[in-house]
Amino acid sequence: MTTANTPPPATAATAPADTPLGVAMIGYAFMGKAHSNAWRNVASYFDVPAFEQKVLVGRDPSGVAEAAAKYGWTETATDWRTVIERDDIQIVDICAPGWMHAEIAIAALEAGKHVLLEKPLANTLAEAEAMTAAAQAARTRGVQSMVGFNYRRVPALALARELIAEGRLGTVRHVRAAYLQDWLADETSPMTWRLKKETAGSGALGDIASHAIDQVLFLLGDQVTEVSGRTHTFTTHRPGRSGLEEVTVDDAAWATLSLASGAIASVEASRVATGQKNSLKLEIYGDKGSLLFDLENLNELGFLDATAPAREQGFRRILVNEPEHPYLEAWWPQGHIIGWEHTFTHEIRDFLLAIDGGTRPSPSFEDGLAVQRVLAAVEESAAAKSTLIQLTGTTSATVSEGA
Ligand SMILES: NC(=O)c1ccc[n+]([C@@H]2O[C@H](COP(=O)([O-])OP(=O)(O)OC[C@H]3O[C@@H](n4cnc5c(N)ncnc54)[C@H](O)[C@@H]3O)[C@@H](O)[C@H]2O)c1
Repeated sequence: MTTANTPPPATAATAPADTPLGVAMIGYAFMGKAHSNAWRNVASYFDVPAFEQKVLVGRDPSGVAEAAAKYGWTETATDWRTVIERDDIQIVDICAPGWMHAEIAIAALEAGKHVLLEKPLANTLAEAEAMTAAAQAARTRGVQSMVGFNYRRVPALALARELIAEGRLGTVRHVRAAYLQDWLADETSPMTWRLKKETAGSGALGDIASHAIDQVLFLLGDQVTEVSGRTHTFTTHRPGRSGLEEVTVDDAAWATLSLASGAIASVEASRVATGQKNSLKLEIYGDKGSLLFDLENLNELGFLDATAPAREQGFRRILVNEPEHPYLEAWWPQGHIIGWEHTFTHEIRDFLLAIDGGTRPSPSFEDGLAVQRVLAAVEESAAAKSTLIQLTGTTSATVSEGA
């Protein structure tokens, strides 16, 4: 944060003419690996401004050096603060846990660096509001920011949004959104930062319901007006470094959302749904048609056109692999399917194009804040026996300019 003693926030860090944009990435584990893969291959498939994978930041010098060598980063560092002050860095990609998001993102934005930040925006609503204010102030200085809700860049979901916007479903009445995993189904699975409120903010709610909520907002272009929620922790203690430690976040969460359009969404998230590995299921029901999607079959979209004669109706499977489908022109011939990792390549492509064009990337920090308001309302409702919570702030989604 800026204080009386600190210099004023910087304007957008620009690379000298003909010099590639310098990128620094913080964190090199799960998301660091996924983002590195995208940084490494994005320019091979899409026309993007020139950039360089300059610095990889982590806490352990040998760990970060090993990762940098594998993932294509030129240099390493162990203190993110010194890295965001460097003149040769224009982009900061934050792949660190939620408890670090606010501090790093605000500092980077104030230093004039464009920020790509993994989801969810923050651990708390107060942090999310401060970060959004910082992003808005930075935008006036030409500094861009984006939240990593990468499922907006699944071609089938980008197509789903287009079909809904074109009115192919008519009036959307309700949505079912369920994000189900089972990596915590075993009650002996160990303690991690994801199971402590102070490091993760919340459990399945912030980790994966955030994606489902973002999809509801993205697909419908709608706003959440009311929330009723419930959360539950099935395994309250897990083995940690010093014996059994308390789990202070939810294992699963449920919510119903009222939307400004009059539609209703049910959202469900679990990390103890035995047998479900990484299934984000979305079902959208309108008066003229319906859509079905499951992340475990991410190249496919189910579409039912209810305007067809009844005897011809039925869900058809669209293999979203044609050159005219979002992002697909850059990849393989029809039917040569793509995977989960491609969503990050699309995300970085859109982020780079927005920086180059001086346009607002999507999802913005405002979009991240909209999701955070819903997450906070689910927790508030859950703590009050599922009382209905009214939302007054803006919870609408902006739509990608790249997709
Ligand atoms: N978009 C998605 O599909 C998706 C999937 C998983 C996680 N995430 C999000 O990505 C973020 C990171 O999650 P993850 O799964 O990669 O976590 P992780 O535990 O696998 O990795 C966290 C990384 O942050 C680094 N780190 C921690 N403290 C640091 C510090 N002080 N300085 C520098 N580096 C530090 C760790 O060394 C590690 O490399 C979270 O916000 C999470 O919610 C997004």
